[in-house]
Amino acid sequence: MAKPKVVFICSECGGEHLRWQGKCQHCGQWNTLKEVKTASSSATFGSSTERKKPQKLSKLAVSKAKITSVGIEEFDRVLGGGMVVGSVLLLSGSPGVGKSTLLLQVAGKIAQKTPVVYISGEESEEQIVERAKRLRVEADNLYFLAQSNLDFILSELNDMEDLGLVIVDSLQTTASENATGSSGSPSQIKYVATELSRFAKENGVPVVMTGHITKNFSIGGPKFLEHIVDVVLIFEGDRFSSMRILRATKNRLGGTSEVGIFEMEDRGLVEVKDPSEAFLKEHKVAPGSALMIAMEGTRPILLEIQALTSGSGYKYTKRTTQGLSRKRTLLILAVLEKFGRQNLSRSDIFVKTSFGMRVFEPAADLAIAVAVASSQLKKPVPAKTCFFGEVGLNGEIKSVVGDKERIKHAKKLGLKPIGADDFPTIQELLAGLFTASSNTK
Ligand code: TYD
Ligand code: MG
Repeated sequence: MAKPKVVFICSECGGEHLRWQGKCQHCGQWNTLKEVKTASSSATFGSSTERKKPQKLSKLAVSKAKITSVGIEEFDRVLGGGMVVGSVLLLSGSPGVGKSTLLLQVAGKIAQKTPVVYISGEESEEQIVERAKRLRVEADNLYFLAQSNLDFILSELNDMEDLGLVIVDSLQTTASENATGSSGSPSQIKYVATELSRFAKENGVPVVMTGHITKNFSIGGPKFLEHIVDVVLIFEGDRFSSMRILRATKNRLGGTSEVGIFEMEDRGLVEVKDPSEAFLKEHKVAPGSALMIAMEGTRPILLEIQALTSGSGYKYTKRTTQGLSRKRTLLILAVLEKFGRQNLSRSDIFVKTSFGMRVFEPAADLAIAVAVASSQLKKPVPAKTCFFGEVGLNGEIKSVVGDKERIKHAKKLGLKPIGADDFPTIQELLAGLFTASSNTK
């Protein structure tokens, strides 16, 4: 292992300094620098001691064997085929979303081929055994270690051979005596992530760490954590829905556009191969509900957008969004007021996506507009229709990327797709969908 060197790390922000000083250069806090023995360089592919000549890129080949397919299609899709040996992945998500469940299932799959060690600082042996039973995870090659001390973890891992995967659950509960602060502090997180990353690179084993997430979907812990790891995965889901979405927000080794969809059931996470069908089954025709075809990576997916407008008793009206861009929604509301002849100024308006999905592409504009108008007019959107299109500031409906795929997908689901080709403006669309109502201006 590389020789540790001494640096001074701020216990507030995790900023690194070569010598001690009273004030942290990064966050400006006083007396927060602590001496830390750290890795001599951050872990990267290629050793810093071994000298290599530049190679012709065209002659360098990546062998397929370096990618470990997990065997869970929805998981592999997000990773771009599987886990790359020696890569470090961070799986984050809010507590209870199902990170440990997903990883135990992943561990069970990989352990059918190669030994896997699942390390938990959060759960006891009894809890894990109980969970594995429930998930029907059985593999002779699956090892479990209830340990939160990184130094013990690394020495155990160094004794094992032919490891196919290491899972550390979680980054926040693992700590080392070589770093300052208690578990979960920026300096501990940095040290643990760097050392695990070094282990992964030196031994050619993929390491997956779990991490907490804050309310606004940013990764709990210092920002540099995202630089240390190769892949950042976010596991999302609504607490009140069983749907779970796995997405990559960073992937040094593949794309970040694909999502994996799962459903949390009694026996763990089940892949949802056809999410549109599942969402369509749950959808009920009612005022304020509009369907849209979104593109998640290369995959068209049916989503539901719901809006509720209600007369406000207060001088100031509320505008709340969930799973959608608030700024974009406010813009669409303004367009609806001006060009869609909707009087929304005295209403509280809530707009959200269903099943905890999130959609930020402009193609959602049209479904947002239709859902709000439908709620305001108290008239349901015609059954078996779905929408996609961007709404311009003059009320014009613009076409969006992937329109052919969206139309094809809608038709496959037995829905009538409505977009820029069907109605040039929001005014004409609303007139076409809902006949004149007393509620319009
Ligand atoms: P868990 O994987 O522990 O979440 P995390 O590691 O992200 O904190 O999942 C916890 C939740 O999942 C818990 O509320 C119970 C539920 N669950 C199921 O519904 N089915 C199952 O088979 C399992 C194992 C958990
Ligand atoms: Mg957990």
